[in-house]
Amino acid sequence: MKLKKAASLKGIIRIPGDKSISHRAVMFGSIAEGITSITNFLPGADCLSTISCFQKLGVEIERKGTNVTVKGIGLKGLAPAEETLDVGNSGTTIRLIMGILAGTSFESNLAGDESISKRPMSRVTKPLTEMGASIVGRENGNYTPLTISGGHLKGIEYKSEVASAQVKSAILLAGLSGEGMTTVEEPHKSRDHTERMLRAFGVEVEEEKTTASIRGGQTLTAADINVPGDISSAAFFLAAGAIVPDSSITLQNVGVNPTRTGVLDVLKAMGAEISMGNMSSSAEPAADISIKTSNLKGTTISGELIPRLIDEIPILALLATQAEGTTIIKDAEELKVKETNRITTVVEELSKLGADIKATADGMIIAGRTPLKGGCKVSSHGDHRIGMMLAVAGLMTEEELELEGSDAISVSYPSFFDHLAELSASSEL
Ligand code: S3P
Repeated sequence: MKLKKAASLKGIIRIPGDKSISHRAVMFGSIAEGITSITNFLPGADCLSTISCFQKLGVEIERKGTNVTVKGIGLKGLAPAEETLDVGNSGTTIRLIMGILAGTSFESNLAGDESISKRPMSRVTKPLTEMGASIVGRENGNYTPLTISGGHLKGIEYKSEVASAQVKSAILLAGLSGEGMTTVEEPHKSRDHTERMLRAFGVEVEEEKTTASIRGGQTLTAADINVPGDISSAAFFLAAGAIVPDSSITLQNVGVNPTRTGVLDVLKAMGAEISMGNMSSSAEPAADISIKTSNLKGTTISGELIPRLIDEIPILALLATQAEGTTIIKDAEELKVKETNRITTVVEELSKLGADIKATADGMIIAGRTPLKGGCKVSSHGDHRIGMMLAVAGLMTEEELELEGSDAISVSYPSFFDHLAELSASSEL
């Protein structure tokens, strides 16, 4: 993929469905009683992996574009799969499905791609084992391929070392089949899509500060789910709109759940000209967000903000190269266990473009503003968010940039380059 400099970005685009919410809608619809209709589903590779896993477990799921119908069979209705459940590149699929499978009475095999095989699973397999599931995998169940046998589960009170919605969700989902109450406490609050959507499916979930609790034995009733646009996808165009000269863009229907809007807080702190309108307030709030070319300054990103923008850090790092002064990103060790080690991949790729960026043990330090130079090859390293960050960088480089591994972008944003072309006045993709 050859990337050319853009003179400006202008226009309005509708952001595709949220990845986290799309996964959950299929999963919860599958274990609910009745027919769940999902609109604005994200047909990205990760969410398609979730559909295929639940089909293998005996659930009838039909997809027409972004409309999905799930014929729920209840948690007890799931049947053993004849083959390995392939989660592809998707951490959310494997970690959440383990929470569900822990409560079944059969054995399942789980595996994914090379990236998944390097990502730690003990953060989920450890609490699920404590609850009564039995899980076997490489290095004491820390790495795929994994075999999970469901069992009679008991509720637990679990203190998670990481603020992770995947860990929290897996434990809460197992808690549905557990005896008594299950409680998860996190160091900071992570995205709460599971809690919100379980309520839409008729389940009682209690939340207090950084703790979520669920009572075992509750059943799910089918619901209609309209997925808002993914703020993590919108972030790439928000950043592009702020740094490409003479730009003014509007992104419609962006999910603005407060556990996800750290990127908006940071953009504001950096001085971005950003405004919100057309707020809708359903279980998952959404809004239209407009941004213009802005005079940005550096900032510090740390602490409770990190889980609220964890997936946006690659694009925020690029933004920081175009901001006056220093940007410090810390408390973000979790970046090391994403689709790639995103501290290493961000620093390696942005350094190629002449950015002043250094890796630290728990984040990175970026000094701006530096012009970005092209005329070289950059790589997504097979990571969708690194690929999109570099595609946005390509809008700023004097010389052409060649992006290797751009196909990874289809994991979360299959129409990314179409949207970029729509907004881009002069880039010929
Ligand atoms: C997700 C949670 C986050 C996020 C991922 C999606 C989810 O991961 O990075 O893209 O849908 O629950 P962690 O739970 O590992 O922080």
